[in-house]
Amino acid sequence: MDYFNYEDGILYAEDVAVQEIAAEYGTPLYIYSRKTLERHWRAFDSAVGNHPHLICYAVKANSNLGVLSVLAKLGSGFDIVSAGELARVIEAGGDPKKVVFSGVGKTAEEIEYALACNILCFNVESESELQRISDVAVRCGKVANISLRINPDVDAKTHPYISTGLKANKFGIASDRALATYELAASLPNLHVVGMDCHIGSQLTELSPFVDALKRLLTLIDQLADKNIHIKHLDVGGGLGVRYKDEQPPLPDAYAQAMAEQMQGREDLMLILEPGRAISGNAGILVTKVEFIKAGEEKNFAIVDAAMNDLLRPALYSAWQEIIPLKQKSNATPTVYDIVGPVCETGDFLGKDRKLAISEGDLLAVRSAGAYGFVMASNYNSRCRPAEILVDENQAHVVREREKQKDLWKGEHKIS
Ligand code: LLP
Repeated sequence: MDYFNYEDGILYAEDVAVQEIAAEYGTPLYIYSRKTLERHWRAFDSAVGNHPHLICYAVKANSNLGVLSVLAKLGSGFDIVSAGELARVIEAGGDPKKVVFSGVGKTAEEIEYALACNILCFNVESESELQRISDVAVRCGKVANISLRINPDVDAKTHPYISTGLKANKFGIASDRALATYELAASLPNLHVVGMDCHIGSQLTELSPFVDALKRLLTLIDQLADKNIHIKHLDVGGGLGVRYKDEQPPLPDAYAQAMAEQMQGREDLMLILEPGRAISGNAGILVTKVEFIKAGEEKNFAIVDAAMNDLLRPALYSAWQEIIPLKQKSNATPTVYDIVGPVCETGDFLGKDRKLAISEGDLLAVRSAGAYGFVMASNYNSRCRPAEILVDENQAHVVREREKQKDLWKGEHKIS
């Protein structure tokens, strides 16, 4: 559930009319809801119940400082994949001791920075990475807590670009190499083996792949205990899907409970979850203005002022995101449009075949844009990236200013 609702035909973000925010800050514009972020985070946290746990929000989904600060205040942990994300977490007031560091390509500089910040754990994806972390830790006189990301080879049944837990994917360590790799980890200097992790994919709409993966990891944890390697936490990654159209993903409650159930009798094994999309996805919208209506022979186009550079998901994954008017028109007859942006690419669309009663100048909201929205935005076609607003009850805070033209060439140099 989110806090973007119609009242008397007008779309509100919490207690503020979206059209008022758009009038003040212009379009395209990302708007997030604090109450929605908090509600989703708490849903995970409370569903796990009394089992020792940590919710590590996946920063990559939406790394705006405003969003991170809201979650930091709840006591959230964070899953990061770069030094930049770690710096953001710290800047937003997050606790580095609650940070897990994922990703297949950590550089020596990133490892050194994370060690200096005393993060909770490195989620390691290869033997070479283990060696590198050990070398850096020795050089810095630090001990690195490590977890191995195991690839459990389960089918997440999601889009191939966001499926990560199959043998064919670049992620993690194959299950049949797990024991040997843990033995290697235990033998390397300045490493402290503390965890096991996995992440099988994103936008999953069924519980069974999560449960299968968890069971496989628990079996491995028992095998390791026989070899005197004791795992203290199990990180099951992120991946719980959200409703964009008619998907029926399990609610965070059911998901977290299913995970906690499998952990019964293992109270000394802390459970870590890394949800991203399920926390921020439906906590954000992208507001855009209809610039032109263009009737074609085969199609009608609504050309809007947001484009693939602002929201890439439709172009990249053919993702479907709901598009709704800021003001409902009860008597108007709807027409079918492709909602397209001004970028010079045929793939530049936000939605296809949408039935809407719209005219030039109307404002629309693309829903479920709070995750993998602004973070994947670019300056393609030299377009300034949108502003971001965080609504907190009746207040709309600017949490990122709209880029200005001079920002477009920041750090560039002419030559004579
Ligand atoms: N943990 C790890 C190690 C991950 O790689 C990811 C996402 C997450 C957690 C969070 O997954 P979530 O709960 O958000 O599903 N850009 C794509 C999604 C890419 C997800 C990458 N990894 C999209 O727009 O659908």
